[in-house]
Amino acid sequence: MTDKELMEIAVKAREMSYSPYSNFRVGAALLGLSGKVYTGCNVENAGYTPTNCAERTALFKAISEGEHEFTAIAIVGGLGDTLNDLCAPCGVCRQALSEFCDNSFRFILGNPKEIKVVTMGEILPYSFGKGDLKL
Ligand code: THU
Repeated sequence: MTDKELMEIAVKAREMSYSPYSNFRVGAALLGLSGKVYTGCNVENAGYTPTNCAERTALFKAISEGEHEFTAIAIVGGLGDTLNDLCAPCGVCRQALSEFCDNSFRFILGNPKEIKVVTMGEILPYSFGKGDLKL
């Protein structure tokens, strides 16, 4: 699976975005260690706060299907039909992913025309994790 292929799966997943309030449409494709890809889109809500980001939709689908190890996630987003040059994951999604992904986990950002890659270690330094809770 190349970065571009994973990105293209994220673009396809974005078609399912339910975003009537922001019209900011996001798609994500999370690559499991098994090779399986879990897709997600953002799911908004009239109450606003129950909104779920595309990245966490993909992550929760994966966990609920028994996969706990991941190597990369591709993320694409933008208003309406446009694809932004960069749709960086929000802080909540970085933290949610960090529960299962180490510092070498890769974020494949941008769009199929221009891909930028950053690691978990770069995007979420000095993080709080399960290691902190060990006595
Ligand atoms: N959103 C995501 O799905 N992922 C992100 O990383 C950033 C934000 C969604 C949430 C909301 O539906 C919309 O984009 C605008 O914030």
